[in-house]
Amino acid sequence: MTPPAAAGPAPPAAALLERIDPALQPRHVGVIMDGNGRWARARRLPRVEGHRAGARVVRDTVEGAVEIGLEALTLYAFSTENWKRPLLEVQALMGLLRDYLRSELRTMLEQGVRFRVLGDWRELPRPLVEAIERCQRETSDGPGLRLNVAINYSGRSEIVAACRRLVADWAAGDRLEIDDQAIASRLSTAGLPDVDLLIRTSGERRISNFLLWQLAGAELWFTDRCWPDFSRRDLYSALLDFQERRRRGAVPEPRRPAAALA
Ligand code: FPP
Repeated sequence: MTPPAAAGPAPPAAALLERIDPALQPRHVGVIMDGNGRWARARRLPRVEGHRAGARVVRDTVEGAVEIGLEALTLYAFSTENWKRPLLEVQALMGLLRDYLRSELRTMLEQGVRFRVLGDWRELPRPLVEAIERCQRETSDGPGLRLNVAINYSGRSEIVAACRRLVADWAAGDRLEIDDQAIASRLSTAGLPDVDLLIRTSGERRISNFLLWQLAGAELWFTDRCWPDFSRRDLYSALLDFQERRRRGAVPEPRRPAAALA
């Protein structure tokens, strides 16, 4: 839901942060970072400048997520559809992702972030693959935020791959079990909670093949702001809105295992 236009100056991020109740927070937030191109066009800049500004906002958003002690944050950086974009734009995006990983590794380690890429990342350009391998390896014990970036990602392909794995495991001698758990444990998000809050910027209101399985019960939060204009204030606003929905009972508490009800 797009927040209504506020009367008077917007409260600073710190004022919003104070109102956040950790007990009512989502465990896993997904973000579709949209509007980089429109942001650049509005400033008569090349599209790549929009992506560059977007990468800076990623840094700030991750810091905000660490600050509030979020369990997991998944950012949609590059879909399998995005290969259709002009070659120069694709190359620039790959370069920005590589530079981001190289420059942020130290901060991730300091912040206890555990980094993972979702999607077919082994098909990406070699320097980016190497940066991903290094970041995943060196942060693998991170006790804090689980930071996932979806690159060369398709939600449908991920589910298809999980089904293929299920059949392969059966062919290799495993008992055939087909249920939610059998699929979820074979997705790239295995071990993570489902997404409970999805944020999408730039006024678009689509899921765009992002985390199709994991979004089944997610609350949706939209803003007209383009991604390069997104700020920690917006992140906290989304979290406070989620908190309000949970307080009203609109968002169910996580389901307890049946044994806990006996
Ligand atoms: C959508 O805007 C954005 C993307 C396809 C790329 C997202 C990438 C970044 C934010 C930068 C790098 C990411 C990381 C994790 C460091 P769009 O280009 O579709 O915008 P438009 O709809 O206005 O054209």
